[in-house]
Amino acid sequence: MVPSSEYIIEFKVDVLKTLKLVGITTGVLTAIGVSAYYIHRNLQSSKRVILRDEVRNILRPFQLTEEQIRRVMANLNTEMTNGLKSDEAITNDLAMFPTFVHHGPSGQESGEYLVVDLGGSNFRVSHVVIEERNRMRLNNKIFLIPHSLLLGAGEKLFDYIAECLQRFIDDNKLSLHKSNDHQFDLAFTFSFPCKQRSLREATLVSWTKGFSCTSVVGNDVVSMLQQAINRRKGLRIEVVALVNDTVGTLMACSSTYRDCRAGVILGTGTNACYFENIENVPKWIGPRDNTLKQVVISTEWGALGKNGCLDFIRTDIDRELDESSLTPQQQVFEKMISALYLGEIVRLIIVDLVQRSILFPGRMQKSPSIRPDYNIFLILRGSFYAKHVADIESDTTEDLSITAAILTSIGIHEPSYDDCYIIREVCKTVSLRAAKLAAAAIAVLINRLNMPSVTVAVDGTLFRHHNKFKKNLIQTLDRFVPRTHRLVLSEDGSSKGSALVAAVDRRLKTASSTYEKNFPS
Ligand code: BGC
Repeated sequence: MVPSSEYIIEFKVDVLKTLKLVGITTGVLTAIGVSAYYIHRNLQSSKRVILRDEVRNILRPFQLTEEQIRRVMANLNTEMTNGLKSDEAITNDLAMFPTFVHHGPSGQESGEYLVVDLGGSNFRVSHVVIEERNRMRLNNKIFLIPHSLLLGAGEKLFDYIAECLQRFIDDNKLSLHKSNDHQFDLAFTFSFPCKQRSLREATLVSWTKGFSCTSVVGNDVVSMLQQAINRRKGLRIEVVALVNDTVGTLMACSSTYRDCRAGVILGTGTNACYFENIENVPKWIGPRDNTLKQVVISTEWGALGKNGCLDFIRTDIDRELDESSLTPQQQVFEKMISALYLGEIVRLIIVDLVQRSILFPGRMQKSPSIRPDYNIFLILRGSFYAKHVADIESDTTEDLSITAAILTSIGIHEPSYDDCYIIREVCKTVSLRAAKLAAAAIAVLINRLNMPSVTVAVDGTLFRHHNKFKKNLIQTLDRFVPRTHRLVLSEDGSSKGSALVAAVDRRLKTASSTYEKNFPS
């Protein structure tokens, strides 16, 4: 039966009444709900603001102002100039070692070289063939260095290197088709502070980066390697050049970029070298004649701060890290920048935050038996790596799942969103400080070179793989260096470049002996 129109009107009125009622009720409920949500959120965010303020106070000393960066630049520049004047190891922060490399490659070098590259936790043996116009073929193998060797007797380390050289030559059949008395030339990339007396004589001044073998400091490392090679009967190799990794990096790149005058390593350690006019090097002991206008200087800038010129930016965490390191009061600048230390700085901040119950509140148990894995992370020095810092700081997932996964992998199970968020802030801050300091140092280098345009060759894990670090570095550099500059990644630079150093030396010697033969004095 169809309802009468009267009934329909009545029904409409009822519906309207009901809708109104429902509407009001919904409105009231929504209002209550929304208010409850906001109250809850405010409560939550006020909790987070308090947390964030405390965290900010801890991170503030790591945030460098423009003025502080300029002061670091001025101090580095002064220390570089002082280091060029004398070898006064006590008062000078920077060693500024002349490397006896005077020329970049001309393109006419050629030849075959073995290269041993020692400087991080692994070392590499390479076979480099330099062909026309410095085209290079490289074949290499990475050998792990057993930890015991890093801290054991120096002679054992060099014997191990010689043994690996033998294996490399045999595995690659390098002696095949060569006469029995063939002797290989070897360039030794040795990335530690060395005082050179020629290209083939270099005294180790101190170990850095976790190495601490006995009976090497104060000795000539070229002759130690040569003796270890000679102890292996049947190995015919002559060590013809000792090259710092920064110098190799510079040389490899300058065969392509003619305006490349500096090499920088931002990796396990940090250092830079550059071409300096000999007239600006009062302590230069080599010849001063018209043919030698420049020499490459290995700055050893990682040592900046030894005499206190970085105290105005050092934090309590930096001091704590330094005191428990293998090299207290040494490599102050390196310890703020390089990959060997970045993870540890972050870990020490995390430990501080845990102790203040800001991180993992209520979950880091006092008794090791409840969560031993948490305690391992908290106690074990070096258990958080620069790679973790890089991955966490670039975590843009909504729930910070990458950060959570990394924390879980090192024994911190089910971290909360807040934990992850705070740890990401810590990583960002520590990495940004490192990038700004590295940029400040490169800016000083470029300003000293004083060229209309300059290329700086760079290598090292931080520059290669840590994208945020590289981006921040370039941004800061652009702000502090008005003149044209570019940073170029030097691929396999420390090995290829060392072979080039040896090849340039060979070419120059051949040229001068030909000259002497033709024009005897
Ligand atoms: C060393 C330098 C080296 C740098 C990069 C530093 O610890 O002292 O000689 O160039 O690390 O490997």
